Amino acid sequence: MKRLQKAIAEAGITSRRKAEELIKEGKVKVNGNLIQELGYKVDEKDRIEVNGMPITNEKKVYFLLNKPRGIITSVSDEKSRKTVVDLIPCQERIYPVGRLDYDTTGVLLLTNDGEFTNILMHPSNKIEKVYMAKIKGLVKGDAIKTLKQGVILEGQKVKAEHIKLRKTDPKTNTSMVEITIHEGKNHQVKKMFESVGYQVLKLKRERVAFFDLKGLKSGEYRSLTPKEVAKVYALSSKRPKYETK
Ligand code: URA
Repeated sequence: MKRLQKAIAEAGITSRRKAEELIKEGKVKVNGNLIQELGYKVDEKDRIEVNGMPITNEKKVYFLLNKPRGIITSVSDEKSRKTVVDLIPCQERIYPVGRLDYDTTGVLLLTNDGEFTNILMHPSNKIEKVYMAKIKGLVKGDAIKTLKQGVILEGQKVKAEHIKLRKTDPKTNTSMVEITIHEGKNHQVKKMFESVGYQVLKLKRERVAFFDLKGLKSGEYRSLTPKEVAKVYALSSKRPKYETK
């Protein structure tokens, strides 16, 4: 027996927190009965419906993709453009963990495990995301210092957890900066540099937690090992249990 919100999250539909909202909003039925109680217990025999759609207990799958430029990070696109999901042929309904811009490359995880996604996305877990940014202009030390101290984006302070000016090239008038952030706001790195007067020309995500691009060329992907999945579960401040099936 498990809690209803856990069963919904494990089915890969959404995070546990969002599942709780769906239950409270009256969008969840169990065996045809509307259930709005968060602690409600279910087992495998129970038929759960979310928004009128039965949920299935899909096998959990996990992928690491080296996202190429010019691909959108979503499950489907209204203009029928290719998405990151199209790059990974599999039966399960996978979706990306977080977002990378159309022109951003690098580490992107995809899964159908809502709990796994929640751990990597939840701010309390302070998951490191490391980017290499090619910047227009020769970046000055005071801009680096400001980004380290924090800037306000959309009314909220965000900062570079680590930041290192790797290279400046007066010939091309560009700089390479390695920046580590914890949050994952939309266009965060580009906006952070913009706030100190610089434009990001190219952006590559080199690492998320302990996942890097070793062995993966642009557009290539691999499955995660059970050990890697367990390691992600161990990153959670709430430590949900990883069940190997
Ligand atoms: N920050 C950005 O500006 N873009 C990305 O794709 C990721 C982080």
